[in-house]
Amino acid sequence: MTVKNKVVLITGAARGIGAATAKRFLEEEAIVILTDLEMEPLRKLQKELNGHTSEVMTMNVADRTNVKTQLQAIIDKHGRLDVVINNAGVTADATLGKMTDEQWDLVLTVNLKGAFIVGQAASEQMKKQKSGVILNAASIVGLYGNFGQSNYAASKGGLITMTKTWAKELGKYNIRVNAVAPGFIETEMTAKMPDKILTHMKNQSPLKRLGQPEDIANAYVFLASDQAAFISGAVLSVDGAAHI
Ligand code: NAI
Repeated sequence: MTVKNKVVLITGAARGIGAATAKRFLEEEAIVILTDLEMEPLRKLQKELNGHTSEVMTMNVADRTNVKTQLQAIIDKHGRLDVVINNAGVTADATLGKMTDEQWDLVLTVNLKGAFIVGQAASEQMKKQKSGVILNAASIVGLYGNFGQSNYAASKGGLITMTKTWAKELGKYNIRVNAVAPGFIETEMTAKMPDKILTHMKNQSPLKRLGQPEDIANAYVFLASDQAAFISGAVLSVDGAAHI
């Protein structure tokens, strides 16, 4: 894969899919900036990535001022920004009758508005460069819905249509925009779910397993690489055929 020396920003990279994605890009010799809400887990991860040189910084995707400052710091240091992975995401589940405004606002603000804020700021630099790749973390839930996840489904569905919109708007600047729609992946996010649901999800896939963070990381590396040069506006399902 040709992502060597590309400057890659990953949001929500302290754990789970983001951390696995950082590792894969580092293996491909990209310059990876891992960002998340807090520095401590990032520093811990950085130690685990021994042998690879990564950079860490805090970035709250829901805070426009913070995103702007941190993106500027990356551009000042590296002079460019090649790949952005809008991976940060949260859940706050409840059925429709029980969902509060706070649960709705939190999930829409981080998952959808956060990607909007980061994508908007990053695209300004990418337009100047006349190149770039933006990858958004959608979900199988954004395609098909899920019990107890009105807010999460709306955020991920919104990300899918925002991805297609950006692909249309930014193509003329040689910026590609794609989404990855993971099935159920074994991370801290899904560890919160009842065993019954996880077993059900495992059985939904003809491959009879949940996904691993590395399964998604590999998809991101491919979509970011020059081998995917004509792929834009796509939603790549990485779900072990769980939806068919
Ligand atoms: P995770 O919960 O393990 O990690 C998410 C990371 O996002 C955490 O490190 C958290 O601190 C960070 N984060 C939360 N709010 C933030 C904010 N305001 N600014 C910056 N960072 C913030 O989640 P996981 O499972 O690794 O998921 C990563 C992405 O993939 C999410 O967008 C999630 O919705 C999506 N996804 C996950 C699936 C799964 O089964 N695990 C399935 C489909 C999509």
